[in-house]
Amino acid sequence: MGCRTLCFGLLFILFAYYIYIPIPENIEETWKIGFMNTVLKMTSLTAKLFENIGLMRYEELFVILTNLDMTEPISDENITVTDTTFSDIPVRLYLPKWKSQRQRPAVIFLHGGAFVLGSCKNSPYDLLNRQTANKLDAVVVGVDYRLSPQYQFPIALEDALSVVKFFLQDKILEQYRVDSTRICISGDSSGGTLAASVTQQLKNDPVFKNKIKAQALIYPFLQIIDSFTPSHRENEHGPLLTRDIAAKLGALYVTKDEALSQAIIKNKHIPQESRHLFKFVNWSIFLPDKFKKNHIYREPILERFNLSYPALLDSRLSPLLANDSQLQKLPLTYVLTCQHDILRDDGLIYVTRLQNVGVNVVHDHIENGFHGALSFITSPFYLLMGIRIKNKYITWLEENL
Ligand SMILES: *[C@@H]1O[C@H](CO)[C@@H](O)[C@H](O)[C@H]1NC(C)=O
Ligand SMILES: *[C@@H]1O[C@H](CO)[C@@H](O)[C@H](O)[C@H]1NC(C)=O
Ligand SMILES: *[C@@H]1O[C@H](CO)[C@@H](O)[C@H](O)[C@H]1NC(C)=O
Ligand SMILES: *[C@@H]1O[C@H](CO)[C@@H](O)[C@H](O)[C@H]1NC(C)=O
Repeated sequence: MGCRTLCFGLLFILFAYYIYIPIPENIEETWKIGFMNTVLKMTSLTAKLFENIGLMRYEELFVILTNLDMTEPISDENITVTDTTFSDIPVRLYLPKWKSQRQRPAVIFLHGGAFVLGSCKNSPYDLLNRQTANKLDAVVVGVDYRLSPQYQFPIALEDALSVVKFFLQDKILEQYRVDSTRICISGDSSGGTLAASVTQQLKNDPVFKNKIKAQALIYPFLQIIDSFTPSHRENEHGPLLTRDIAAKLGALYVTKDEALSQAIIKNKHIPQESRHLFKFVNWSIFLPDKFKKNHIYREPILERFNLSYPALLDSRLSPLLANDSQLQKLPLTYVLTCQHDILRDDGLIYVTRLQNVGVNVVHDHIENGFHGALSFITSPFYLLMGIRIKNKYITWLEENL
């Protein structure tokens, strides 16, 4: 009894402490976001506790919670929804029911979740993909690529590529009545990494290079070289995604060795011989002044850490490492960035670099936006910001695909 009271007391104090974490002033629904922030941070704390007592690994608690929110493939009056496989990878397929005169556009969507969490069957992604299919009269494919730490880099990317290449076969496009000149690859967060990377790979492949009309990247993660850009500094404690949680979960795509996430937090995870890569992500060159503010550029630290993970230097994990002649080949690109997001500068740098080489880029920057909002568009957890991001993305597709 005494113990239970003590535990509740401690939990209450923690909760009271966390709920007072300041939320940036311009964010709406402050109370709701404060609450979600608190729940997320307490989850992270509990996950660390469980890991320390040997109950489960850190990420497993997040996986359990995310998996509570799975949906069945439920068709509605306009869309037939089916779970199937493309090239042995599970996908959820959204097919408009009505016979249309013309062929349809198609969107392949890669969900976020730090390569560790999530599924296209989670209710927000199901709703997003369903509405995309509905609004655009499009065929939409949600992809359940395999997740880390069980499957590490580059498995998620290879799965995504297999699905896309399977779908792009002439006979499959014909089967679903898809217009092969109106296909978009989309993704949010780590799904944005995959979308950007798949698009780069296909644009370098003579068989597929003309088959992608557009890519849409929603607050994407685009580089692991510099983990201390101005957006990392300003949003270290969230809202929602903190540097700590991002490093702990994200590093699992490369290794289970915790030393890597600790090195990422200190921005000294890149091996000695890789200084030549800094020029691709040098924010003091590529960020517009309004985002640089008074931050002083500091190169990531090379000397002291000696990890050799080739993934860390691979443009398939950091699409920003592609050189200008590769970027030049990219199709019409939509990038959505949020002001209050550690990954904001990844998106901003990509926008600048693509514009510099003449790629057609549409950039939506949301001044009061924050990372992960798109995952809150279904009740009871919906956020106005999530719905706004969803609508911006779908509207862009409607007008451009
Ligand atoms: C089906 O499409 C019609 C016409 O676009 C729309 O009004 C209706 O809301 C759609 N139904 C669903 C379940 O989305
Ligand atoms: C980064 O850019 C600044 C100019 O803004 C330059 O002085 C510095 O040498 C660059 N560093 C690297 C590693 O590219
Ligand atoms: C450190 O790096 C060097 C050169 O890359 C390598 O030969 C050595 O094995 C590394 N040491 C450790 C402890 O990883
Ligand atoms: C750009 O990268 C590609 C692939 O790595 C390489 O073949 C090409 O030579 C590079 N181009 C320049 C100008 O560095």
